[in-house]
Amino acid sequence: MPKSLISIQDFSKDEILHILDVAREFEQNREQDFLKGKVIACLFFEPSTRTRLSFESAVNRLGARVIGFPDNRNTSQTKGETLEDTIKIVSNYVDMIVMRHPVAGAADIAASVASVPVINAGDGANQHPTQTLLDLYAIQKTQGHLENLNINMVGDLKYGRAVHSLVEAMRHFSPHFVFTSPEELTMPRKYLEMLSAAGISYKETSRIEDGLNDCDILYMTRVQQERFPDMDEYNKVKDVYRLTASMLSGVKPGMKIMHPLPRVNEIATDVDSTPYAYYFQQAGGGMYVRMAIISYLLGYR
Ligand code: CP
Repeated sequence: MPKSLISIQDFSKDEILHILDVAREFEQNREQDFLKGKVIACLFFEPSTRTRLSFESAVNRLGARVIGFPDNRNTSQTKGETLEDTIKIVSNYVDMIVMRHPVAGAADIAASVASVPVINAGDGANQHPTQTLLDLYAIQKTQGHLENLNINMVGDLKYGRAVHSLVEAMRHFSPHFVFTSPEELTMPRKYLEMLSAAGISYKETSRIEDGLNDCDILYMTRVQQERFPDMDEYNKVKDVYRLTASMLSGVKPGMKIMHPLPRVNEIATDVDSTPYAYYFQQAGGGMYVRMAIISYLLGYR
């Protein structure tokens, strides 16, 4: 079976650091063409702006070509074809599959039947490993290193796949976590148990003020409306946190605010012009990181 990236746990610490090094190389020189002749499928069964377009841009900048779809409304899944059959067929046409799907575990199923590497571009509330690698790239760039950082994750820690992958990845780098969420959206127990087993400290709170002034990274997240089974429950928590510029007066000078985006209203636009805002640059680095992931999985770096 070819090496795929389904969970961030598929990459060792050395592999993660290697991807960040290669991404830096591509940021210095983004016009590469060593994948000329390759074809990569981007299959998005769920909406995306950043992930799909940065992957497609990465494929093009590496000299390969892209096929795929931005939603599955015009595919034979509407006629009842299974995900497994779709992936087996697409495997015949391409050298790699990048896939986003609303169902947790779908990427794993795809990798189990694919004859080419599969990259998980987000599966339900489960994992978003390429987001994590670009998050690490941004953290390393802004802090100069990844070790012993204070990271405050705020918002929807239950359904946010980006925070799940990031917590798993950071276990390699001895972080100290504050998890800020309402009671309904706390970090799932399995991630807390994983941190405890690894000897990594964390604190849970519902007050954003608690972890604001000590953190190196403030990782804001959107409340994931699309994952709520009950809209009344969503409406209760959707506006629970709103970061504004006036709340940042006591933060560390080098602190950076990150967000996987899209944002809704959890970061006021007056934060954008502060020296702490880093979410747009964070997303920008995603293209280089995805170039590095594709190159690595295809055996070119
Ligand atoms: N961060 C992220 O996955 O954004 P998109 O949903 O726009 O791809």
